[in-house]
Amino acid sequence: MSRAGRILILGSTGQLGRELQRSFSDYGEVIARGRETVDFSGEDQLRSAVRTASPDVILNAAAYTAVDRAESEPDLAMAVNGHAPGALAEEANRLGALFVHYSTDYVFDGTKAGAWEETDAPNPLNVYGASKLAGERAVEQVGGKHLIFRTSWVYGPHGKNFLLTMLRLGKERDLLKVVDDQVGAPTTSIALADATRSIVASIFEGRCGSAESWAGVYHMTCGGSVSWRGFADAIFARAQNLLGGRRPATAPIPTSEYPTPARRPQNSVLSNKKLNAAFGVQLPSWGDALDRVFLEFNP
Ligand SMILES: NC(=O)c1ccc[n+]([C@@H]2O[C@H](COP(=O)([O-])OP(=O)(O)OC[C@H]3O[C@@H](n4cnc5c(N)ncnc54)[C@H](OP(=O)(O)O)[C@@H]3O)[C@@H](O)[C@H]2O)c1
Repeated sequence: MSRAGRILILGSTGQLGRELQRSFSDYGEVIARGRETVDFSGEDQLRSAVRTASPDVILNAAAYTAVDRAESEPDLAMAVNGHAPGALAEEANRLGALFVHYSTDYVFDGTKAGAWEETDAPNPLNVYGASKLAGERAVEQVGGKHLIFRTSWVYGPHGKNFLLTMLRLGKERDLLKVVDDQVGAPTTSIALADATRSIVASIFEGRCGSAESWAGVYHMTCGGSVSWRGFADAIFARAQNLLGGRRPATAPIPTSEYPTPARRPQNSVLSNKKLNAAFGVQLPSWGDALDRVFLEFNP
């Protein structure tokens, strides 16, 4: 079986970066780099880190993900999310390496009635979404062996995310008001990492043909959809052991009652049809993926 060889994981301290390290640990030689050694705001350092590592695959899990803060730090968000991915794609091309990059549902404006397809026109509502779209375009412009996976509502057992925020608030409150008019697909860092590994393995084992036939943008989320309030309910339904037998109640509120600096799309649901057709990969439903994360808490 042909293997990927040397795998450079950037953003290794993030939610996805951690899971990519787990998922690829027995697949090749993993070189994990976090912000302390590779800061994306400095392009020269970034390029030289890639040249030093000389990988066969670059998995870029680093991003400026503070959606609200990005409204007041647009230059930094653009440097990390918009410009750095293009430099990475160029370095990957130089080496003949596969470049895997992640993007977001926030490239869309949320106005579509059904699930968003890759062919739908992006129209970001906030600085973060605009910076991620700029990153996609920079990578596409370089071309070569690249994959851009747009995902949504990422969470997992570690890091900063909605699940861990709900568990913290659920310890303090019996009732939480949660936004009910934004719908999306909560997606675990675990499922994303495992799907990425499966696709990288297929490519390196020669099952996908040449890069011209598979390079491009794909949506990659867990199956189904739910509002933030529905997601919170599902979390509390599974969290009784962690919350000493308590099950906090939730009340629905509209986005207008939870104002944030960044506007967010109302419908964030992405269609995964292209990913399924190209690679035969299907992520679990969001509920099954949530069960899997709770196994980490209650082994
Ligand atoms: N989180 C979501 O809900 C969500 C939704 C859709 C798409 N995505 C995309 O999914 C991917 C993974 O996201 P995630 O949730 O795993 O993000 P995360 O947990 O916030 O991790 C981001 C990683 O990027 C690093 N980073 C931030 N600024 C950096 C800089 N200037 N230089 C170098 N590294 C820097 C962070 O380092 P530190 O640990 O030092 O901060 C961390 O390792 C990203 O492309 C993100 O845009 C995420």
